[in-house]
Amino acid sequence: MKKTLLTGLQPSGDLHIGNYFGALKPFVDAYQEYDSFLMVADLHALTSLRDPEALRRNTLEVVKAYLAAGANPNKCVIFKQSDVATHPELAWIFDCLVTVSFLELGHAYKDKVAKGLEANAGLFTYPVLMAADILLYETDVVPVGEDQRQHIEFNLAYGQMFKEPKEMILKSVGVVPGTDGKKMSKSYGNTIPLFASREEIQKAVMGIVTNSSGERPENVYAIHQLVKDEASLTSLYEEKKGRYKDLKDALVEDLDAYLKPMREKYAKISDKDVEKILKKGAEKARKVSEKKMVQVRKAVGLR
Ligand code: ADP
Ligand code: TRP
Repeated sequence: MKKTLLTGLQPSGDLHIGNYFGALKPFVDAYQEYDSFLMVADLHALTSLRDPEALRRNTLEVVKAYLAAGANPNKCVIFKQSDVATHPELAWIFDCLVTVSFLELGHAYKDKVAKGLEANAGLFTYPVLMAADILLYETDVVPVGEDQRQHIEFNLAYGQMFKEPKEMILKSVGVVPGTDGKKMSKSYGNTIPLFASREEIQKAVMGIVTNSSGERPENVYAIHQLVKDEASLTSLYEEKKGRYKDLKDALVEDLDAYLKPMREKYAKISDKDVEKILKKGAEKARKVSEKKMVQVRKAVGLR
């Protein structure tokens, strides 16, 4: 019997190579060893997205990105969170169990408040919905980035009826740096877009911040490492020591070669294909999670 793996990604748009190396690739490398569920967390995205067209577009984009990265929809269940009503249903039940003071420890909420912004109630209970996502499928393994660790730990608050996920694959790739050397993130404007044209890659790479004193431009090297093996890199950086422009040109070349096949695959996937996959995935996810929900409703007295 295979173990169950579930992961989710918010359709928040503008995927970048940090998302690829931090989330898409680790999933694609591992999912066939498990009974895998891949969820587009569109309900979670509503905590920050108020643009219906963008939400629809981003949802298609995320699914296409996983397919282009190599996920086979016949070998895993790809579904949209909002298609499966058991998720918000179980989240509500959890909402009635968890205390406000416990949720006040959530970092997404705390960060917002620390910035002096008013958090919506969806953001406050974000970890509760995430716990429901995971526990509905008796998930064993949850691959998430380091930044998501705390959300998972909230699961431990709910005993007995649920299977505690035993493994959290915390991505070993670590943090992909952006063009300014900080964590690559769409909110920092330091990204290399995943489905960029060669021209866009060139523009992003030329914008990488370099320190004029060193022989090796560290920010260029750090990104280069993701797409080229250590030995070739060592000789390349030795040969072009101190020639930042040449090294950036080489990075454009290597990034473009690495991303091109994915970009071409992405372009061939139609919206209709994605809709079909999501429909089939929703049916499967409903069936599996409903089984758990029957037990839960009974246990709390709703049936
Ligand atoms: P962003 O920071 O651009 O808003 P998200 O928070 O939507 O990205 O991240 C989606 C997924 O991609 C998460 O699993 C996260 O861990 C991963 N991820 C995002 N940025 C990076 C990065 N720079 N390095 C590694 N993984 C990342
Ligand atoms: N919070 C995750 C993110 O922002 C997405 C997510 C929602 C998720 N539900 C999940 C991840 C369940 C793993 C398991 O990337």
